[in-house]
Amino acid sequence: MIDSFPIARHPFRKGPSLICHLHTASEKVFEMNSLHILKLTDGVIFLRPLAAEDAADHLAGEDEEMSKWVSGGRSTPATVEAFIRSSQENWRGGGPRRAFGVFDCVSNRLVGFIEVNLARLVEPGQVNVSYGVFRQWRRQGLALRAIDLMDEYLRTATEARQMVFRIAPANTASLKLAEKASYTFRGLFDEPEGRMVRYVRDIKT
Ligand SMILES: CC(C)(COP(=O)(O)OP(=O)(O)OC[C@H]1O[C@@H](n2cnc3c(N)ncnc32)[C@H](O)[C@@H]1OP(=O)(O)O)[C@@H](O)C(=O)NCCC(=O)NCCS
Repeated sequence: MIDSFPIARHPFRKGPSLICHLHTASEKVFEMNSLHILKLTDGVIFLRPLAAEDAADHLAGEDEEMSKWVSGGRSTPATVEAFIRSSQENWRGGGPRRAFGVFDCVSNRLVGFIEVNLARLVEPGQVNVSYGVFRQWRRQGLALRAIDLMDEYLRTATEARQMVFRIAPANTASLKLAEKASYTFRGLFDEPEGRMVRYVRDIKT
């Protein structure tokens, strides 16, 4: 069963609000800021649920690749607002789709997103994860960091056991990322979105 109140029930360490602390690689932590919003950080990036005020930056970050591989076409202010609203409803109601913004610790800027769908299962314990990093922030290891923080969130706040990526065969960057993040190739599968390469990784214990 999935924990239906992930924010309220999860362990956290209080620290100065909205400040990223430096942590060792193995010391990724949950924190709550002064607004009591869930925040996960490794000292370089932090994740927190997307909020209405992130809409403009989220839309501005959508380039061709993001639109082709993630959004299923160009977004508009209205579709982004609807996405964030639905995401907030999921967080509030313990729904299956948990979308985080990825933020740079130094500037507090939104640099991408990462989302888990706890209901999109192939096998028991598996959950579907999707992600994107805005163009100007790519190739700095931020997607790898976001995936590790998502792993930490899933391990601590849910009963998920394996993360699944579904990647279009032509999405070279994402395929390489999956390999670099030590995901295991499972093959090509027909999905509602078309033929997708599936990769899985155990959630760390
Ligand atoms: C895929 C994506 C999230 C990668 O984000 P990123 O922050 O640049 O990735 P990282 O810097 O963490 O890259 C880690 C590794 O992935 C691989 N990789 C990432 N981008 C790559 C690219 N364009 N070409 C080849 N390998 C790439 C490399 O092995 C890289 O390690 P290296 O830089 O030491 O060589 C980003 O390109 C993106 O947002 N693309 C559009 C949205 C998308 O496709 N989302 C996934 C849908 S399934």
